[in-house]
Amino acid sequence: MHAGSKAFFYALSRSAALKRLASKYGMATTESFARRFIAGEAIEEAVDCARTIQSEGMLLTLDYLGESVRTLEEAAAATREYVRLMDVIVASGIERNISLKLTQLGVDVDRATCVDNLRRILDPGATHGFFVRIDMENSAYTEVTLEIFETLWQQEYRNVGVALQAYLRRTEQDVRRMNELGARVRLVKGAYKEPASVAFQQKAEVDAAFIRLARMLLDEGTYPAFGTHDPPLLAHVRAHALGRHIANDQFEFQMLYGIRRDLQRLLVTEGYRMRVYVPFGRQWFPYFMRRLGERPENVTFVLKALLREK
Ligand code: FDA
Repeated sequence: MHAGSKAFFYALSRSAALKRLASKYGMATTESFARRFIAGEAIEEAVDCARTIQSEGMLLTLDYLGESVRTLEEAAAATREYVRLMDVIVASGIERNISLKLTQLGVDVDRATCVDNLRRILDPGATHGFFVRIDMENSAYTEVTLEIFETLWQQEYRNVGVALQAYLRRTEQDVRRMNELGARVRLVKGAYKEPASVAFQQKAEVDAAFIRLARMLLDEGTYPAFGTHDPPLLAHVRAHALGRHIANDQFEFQMLYGIRRDLQRLLVTEGYRMRVYVPFGRQWFPYFMRRLGERPENVTFVLKALLREK
C-alpha cells in the first residue's frame, strides 16, 4: 500500500460534503465498483449475501455501516437499526454475529450514552446467542474503546470481543491486556492514516508486528481471529498453529466481503474457519474510501467504471 494514496483516501473518507453526496445519490453512481465491497444498502440484500456465503461453508459477521455520528439522536437511531438487524437475522436463520463501531453509537457525543447503547445491543444479543465484535477505529479511540470493553467485561458481558491493530506501537500491551481478561481479539493490520509517533509506517514493520502478535494470541489468547488477506501472514499463522498443535477450531480467519474470494474458498477447502465481514447500509462512503486507499489499483478500476457510466 502506498502511504500517500492511503492518506489521500483517508482525507476523502472524512469529507462531510462527499459523504452527504454519496448517501444522497446512493450506490447507483459508483454501483459497479462499490458493490464489490458492500453487500447493498438494505438489510435484505445483506441477508441474501449472507445466505450465499453460508452456503459456501463460510462464517459471517454483518456490519451495519455508519460511524462518527454527531448527535445522540443519530446514535440512538444507529442503535435501533442494530436491534432491528438482530431481529431480521434471527428471523432469517443466518449466523448471529455482528460488528459495530463505537463512534456509530455516540462515543464522541457522550461516553455513558454510548455504553448504554452498546448494552441495548448486547442484552438482546446475549438472549439470542449473538456475538458482537467492536471494530477498532483510529488511534484517538483505542484507549476509550478498550476501557468501554473492559467496563462491559466487568459487568459480565461475554458475548463481545474487540479488534486490535498490528500497526499501532501500543498493541503488544493491548494484546496482553486482552489475553489476561480472556477476551476474544480480532487482529488486523489497521486501516487508518496514523502518524509515525503511534504507528509503524513500513509494510515490513507492520507485517512483523502482525506475526508477533498473532503468536501471542495463538499461544495465550482466547479463540483469536486473524483478519487479513495477506498470504505470507496467513501462512505464518497456519504454521505457528500447526507447530503448537493448536486445532483449526481454536481460531479463525476473517476477510472482507469482495476481497480475495479465491483465498477465502481455499481456506475453507483446507479445513479452516473462514469468516466474511459483510458491510451494508447507506453510510458506505468512508468504508469504501478506506478500501480504495488500501490498493492504488482500485482507483484505476473506479475511474474506468465511472467513464463507462458516462
Ligand atoms: P494488505 O493490505 O497488505 O493486502 C494483502 C492483499 O490483500 C493485497 O495484495 C490484495 O491482494 C488484497 N487486498 C487487501 N486490501 C484490498 C483492497 N482494499 N482491495 C483489493 N484487494 C485488497 N481495520 C481497522 O483499522 N479496524 C478494524 O476493526 C478492522 N476490521 C477488519 C475486519 C476484517 C474481517 C478484515 C479482513 C479487515 C479489517 N480491517 C480493520 C482492515 C485491515 O486493517 C486492513 O486495512 C485490510 O485488511 C487490508 O490489509 P491486509 O491485511 O489484507 O494486507
